Amino acid sequence: MLKIQSLAKTLPGPPPRRLFEDLALDIASGECVAIVGESGAGKSTLLNCIAGLDGVAGGSIRVRGTEICGLDDDALARLRREHFGFVFQAFHVLPHLSLADNVAVPLWLLGVQDRVARVRALDMLARVGLAARADDPPRLMSGGELQRVAIARALVHRPAVVLADEPTGNLDPERAASVLDLLLDTIRDAGAAGVLVTHSRAAARRADRVLALEQGRLVDIRLAE
Ligand SMILES: Nc1ncnc2c1ncn2[C@@H]1O[C@H](COP(=O)(O)OP(=O)(O)OP(=O)(O)O)[C@@H](O)[C@H]1O
Ligand SMILES: [Mg+2]
Repeated sequence: MLKIQSLAKTLPGPPPRRLFEDLALDIASGECVAIVGESGAGKSTLLNCIAGLDGVAGGSIRVRGTEICGLDDDALARLRREHFGFVFQAFHVLPHLSLADNVAVPLWLLGVQDRVARVRALDMLARVGLAARADDPPRLMSGGELQRVAIARALVHRPAVVLADEPTGNLDPERAASVLDLLLDTIRDAGAAGVLVTHSRAAARRADRVLALEQGRLVDIRLAE
């Protein structure tokens, strides 16, 4: 689903600094990988590179077999809408839209008919346990519920890759655990490739593999129980 080879990224200086060097990552359909690493290691930058939001100095990033390095901005924008889902620490729901409409936004952007988009949004909301709240505005929801909406929105268009940057950073530990389980289950069920950046060991342990971003490379690690 996602295959990264020999990725290099340099930060503009002065002086310029090498952030990644020969970075590799391969994620299968239905697999979730956690990425941990010190603050400033480049985890968020890596997600931005994967999504084509940040340029790279060299290497290859393939999503469902399509090379994204070297595409122009229009092609990247199209690819991002079609193949990527995002979950952030701040939920980024649109306050003036109902939950169902928030979830339908990625489908609208792809030109899916309103009626079809509504059906698929309701189906996703049901999967995250919020079917009964479909027509409520976001202001009535708790943080954990909003993150469920964000999960539904990230997966509604059946993306190849779901990128999550500290998705439970704003939630208390109990809520964080259940939201994270839901995120990982939803990604696995959808057969997407999941990349979860997290500072939390408890969160990382729920992924299928844990990788540490260290000195510009991803290293397989095993977290102690
Ligand atoms: N556009 C940019 N120009 C220059 N430096 C940048 C740019 N974007 C990020 N950086 C630097 O790159 C490094 C990696 O940042 P990044 O946000 O990816 O780290 P992170 O691993 O996500 O950290 P955290 O765990 O704190 O979120 C940092 O030193 C940051 O200051
Ligand atoms: Mg970060």
